[in-house]
Amino acid sequence: MRWKGKALPFFLVLQLYVLQVSANQEGIPQSLKHNKEWPLFEYGEIRKPTPTKGLLYPRESETREVRSLDGMWRLVRSDPKDPLQGIREKWYANSLRMSGKEVIPMPVPASYNDIATTDSLRDHVGTVWYERTFYVPRLWKDGVRTWLRFGSVHYSAIVWINGRNATSHSIGHLPFEADISALLNFGGENLVTVMCDNRLGNRTIPQGSVYQASTDKGTVPVQSYTFDFFNYAGIHRSVHLYTTPLIHISDLEVRTLYSSNGMGRIDYRLWVDASQAAEYQQMLVTNLRVVLRDRDGTEVGQQMNRLVYQGSLLVPSAKPWWPYLMNSDPGYLYSMEFQLVVACNEDDSGCALQDAYRLPVGIRTLSWSNQSLLLNGVPLYLRGFGRHEDSDIRGKGLDNALLARDFNLLKWIGANAYRTSHYPYSEESMQFADEQGIMIIDECPAVNIDIFEPQLLEQHMSSLEQLIHRDRNHPSVIAWSVANEPRSAKPGALEYFETLVTYTRSIAQGRPLTAAINASPSTCHLAQFLDIVGFNRYNSWYQNAGRTDMIVDQLTEEAESWRDKFEKPIIQFEYGGDTMEGMHSLPAFIWSEEYQVQLFSKHFRAFDELRGKRWFIGEFVWNFADFRTAQTITRVGGNKKGVFTRNRQPKEVAHLLRQRYFAIARELDHCPLPEDLTVYISRHSKHSRHNEL
Ligand SMILES: *[C@@H]1O[C@H](CO)[C@@H](O)[C@H](O)[C@H]1NC(C)=O
Ligand SMILES: *[C@@H]1O[C@H](CO)[C@@H](O)[C@H](O)[C@H]1NC(C)=O
Ligand SMILES: *[C@@H]1O[C@H](CO)[C@@H](O)[C@H](O)[C@H]1NC(C)=O
Repeated sequence: MRWKGKALPFFLVLQLYVLQVSANQEGIPQSLKHNKEWPLFEYGEIRKPTPTKGLLYPRESETREVRSLDGMWRLVRSDPKDPLQGIREKWYANSLRMSGKEVIPMPVPASYNDIATTDSLRDHVGTVWYERTFYVPRLWKDGVRTWLRFGSVHYSAIVWINGRNATSHSIGHLPFEADISALLNFGGENLVTVMCDNRLGNRTIPQGSVYQASTDKGTVPVQSYTFDFFNYAGIHRSVHLYTTPLIHISDLEVRTLYSSNGMGRIDYRLWVDASQAAEYQQMLVTNLRVVLRDRDGTEVGQQMNRLVYQGSLLVPSAKPWWPYLMNSDPGYLYSMEFQLVVACNEDDSGCALQDAYRLPVGIRTLSWSNQSLLLNGVPLYLRGFGRHEDSDIRGKGLDNALLARDFNLLKWIGANAYRTSHYPYSEESMQFADEQGIMIIDECPAVNIDIFEPQLLEQHMSSLEQLIHRDRNHPSVIAWSVANEPRSAKPGALEYFETLVTYTRSIAQGRPLTAAINASPSTCHLAQFLDIVGFNRYNSWYQNAGRTDMIVDQLTEEAESWRDKFEKPIIQFEYGGDTMEGMHSLPAFIWSEEYQVQLFSKHFRAFDELRGKRWFIGEFVWNFADFRTAQTITRVGGNKKGVFTRNRQPKEVAHLLRQRYFAIARELDHCPLPEDLTVYISRHSKHSRHNEL
């Protein structure tokens, strides 16, 4: 139950309209303008990405086995001056010990940078090699296919099994997999070798450049980049081995609608791969049984489809998916079980189960207009963070303890959303967000892109295609962010982003498109193409440092000019200031905890003024926690704009932000307040000193 009975408007029609608009956006304009001041590229001939197929998150079932290859691997660092030595010398053909290089233990998942004690590994440029051995059971030889799946390797990877090339991938933070059945020793030992390259150039997403620097030890390659977080590298997420039957479910897509009369609807589509099955098996009639279970495991819907792999399931009296604090039971997920069965008799009596896969499904309707973003017909006000996948020692490595702690902090502070700045986050975190009811602005890795040209655009489109394919079934995803702080005022940005956004809209799976922009409303070439305009602005930090008396007017004026020019819903995706934990100053001085409190409080005043105008739909702090950056004179051990320390403890401002986020939740959705939100001070005031919101 929502706490407050609100009449739901008739949003179904809007949603269908939106779906139709997305479907009509195919095709990329051929007529491209030219500009004399700048070499502008033509994007008419651009190659659209091949649609990704497969890559379902590995889940056990009665027909599938999953084994983790996480643990201690071995690592060899290549000479930065000769990154391809290992390819020439075929290091993958044997154990890396044969390379003659130093072999060190390396945990997976983790960034390799901060594990050792040397700056040569931390600041390494080029390739490193990973390996480990594993066994596969004899039983996997016949009747199943064995897959090797990486959650992500940054930036690019080539993978060998037993010395034979298995797969390759580039663009960090995205999964890839391969059927390795033909390369394995069943019932024996196997060797997996991964070459990982962290170099960023002008055609990678994100961009960077490698230059040659003269040092006391001669010339060495150095990686430079303009984005403000450390370019951690390695096998960042889990590595899985898993099996599928020869006739198996290779991909799944669901879309949901929830209508005001309580009817839920799940449209599903499934892809079957029988390419490795025997011919006679491929001739069998394969049917699809779909079973929907509620959270208690009770069956609430079932369908049997003969030879068709798509359909719609209606769920009367559905429990919709709601975000945290919008409802007393947020993050409600059904389990949708897909069973492939082979009909052995006419009446289906002797059906043999081929494959089973269970997908968590949240039933909700997402829609938007020129002034709001609505979930189940209710306009959203997003209160959250930009974040990073970043922690001490692990760097960007997946860590379940950190993941659980971060979500507990998000809930403690009353946030309901975050942006996956500035790259796709782990699949495990997306599943967690579904379960906890935290809404996600899902961002591709295009941070600070600057040199616009066709090959970059192809990579950029591919990063969005892979991201959307990976995350389209998550109810928590409410928008796709196509870029963060691109140099969108450059003339080359116009055709580039028109092409990119037109393509992305054609695959957007019922979500609006946004971006985090730091150009101005008068110069930005990207905002006009988006559904929601997000801007990043550091009032009283990068501009007017020390002047918290210059925030309210400037911020409200800027938000209004974005609105006036583009007539879209507006979000502030970043604001904040670096704060050294434990540094105090009265009166407030920049870098002190008092300054962060004052800077936030002034922003709150501006946000409240803007909220009255309805089209202002969200406030996102930069950043959730302190994080590591490249070494520069403006960063003391990293970026300190966190509301929490890198160790995930609150700074003073966290308590203030918590009061605000809960106050808004109470105002909008009548949620109960946590008992410890205010502390006893005196008989006449039971509020803390931050009660002035
Ligand atoms: C390995 O195979 C992939 C395609 O699967 C290819 O792109 C890559 O260049 C190959 N690498 C080597 C070293 O053979
Ligand atoms: C991109 O990088 C390549 C290789 O380093 C270089 O040759 C080229 O000039 C660069 N392009 C631009 C537009 O800077
Ligand atoms: C917003 O959309 C509504 C409904 O389509 C329309 O009537 C209104 O004029 C639009 N407002 C702006 C500012 O574009």
